[in-house]
Amino acid sequence: MGKENMTDSPVPNTPFPAHIGIIMDGNGRWAQKRRLKRTDGHLEGLKTARRIVEAANRLGLRYLTLYVFSTENWKRAESEVNFILSLVKRYLVAELDHYRTDRLRVRYAGDMDRLPRDIASEINKACDDTKDYDGMQVVLALNYGGRDEIVRAVNRMLGQSGDGDSKKSLPSVSEDMISAYLDNPDIPDPDFIIRTAGEFRTSNFLLWEGAYSEYYISDLFWPDWTEEDLKNAITDYGKRERRFGAVSK
Ligand code: FPP
Repeated sequence: MGKENMTDSPVPNTPFPAHIGIIMDGNGRWAQKRRLKRTDGHLEGLKTARRIVEAANRLGLRYLTLYVFSTENWKRAESEVNFILSLVKRYLVAELDHYRTDRLRVRYAGDMDRLPRDIASEINKACDDTKDYDGMQVVLALNYGGRDEIVRAVNRMLGQSGDGDSKKSLPSVSEDMISAYLDNPDIPDPDFIIRTAGEFRTSNFLLWEGAYSEYYISDLFWPDWTEEDLKNAITDYGKRERRFGAVSK
């Protein structure tokens, strides 16, 4: 469903983002507030992710990147890490039917090499099973770090330069060249990045792609987020003036 066909636009006739990234923060604090385990917060966070994917698709969004697990999240307790990874697997298996019905395409961003093999193969399977779908694309950023993505992009580029004597033969590097070697070069940069749980930081999310993204910070913990909150955020985006470094008209 394209933007032009939207029947449910929160702000008719105002700019609508093509790509939204979400830093889903606050699962732990949500659980703590209720004297529950941190893992209960992640479980509730998963339900919210489902809810927001459906809502974003209904609104006609084209790309949604969810920051599921960062390259720094390995520093957490092993049991919590394992729980989050098992949720990802559960999510992919359980949602595949829904993805099929709504023709949603699953994409991946991050370094797959450090993921447990079963998770990596579930992600590859979901990406492969949905690769021809033309609906919203859901990018799962998992073992993802913005700096790590740039380093991997540059290494890929050096790898492609070929002949052993790469120092001599490598041309000067342009922004477009680096963009071309990122994890999903065909996906447009995020217009809008939402972060929940009130923190004002990027936490290594889409550092390159988010250079000109509009940011929106919500005080709510991620498990409390609803379709209404997504609509309010998009309404706010519609009022922003994006100048990309130029001056106002
Ligand atoms: C941040 O909350 C959340 C995470 C690191 C995990 C996010 C994972 C999910 C929402 C579930 C999986 C989702 C999908 C789509 C497969 P936090 O633990 O840092 O919260 P805190 O800052 O309050 O401790």
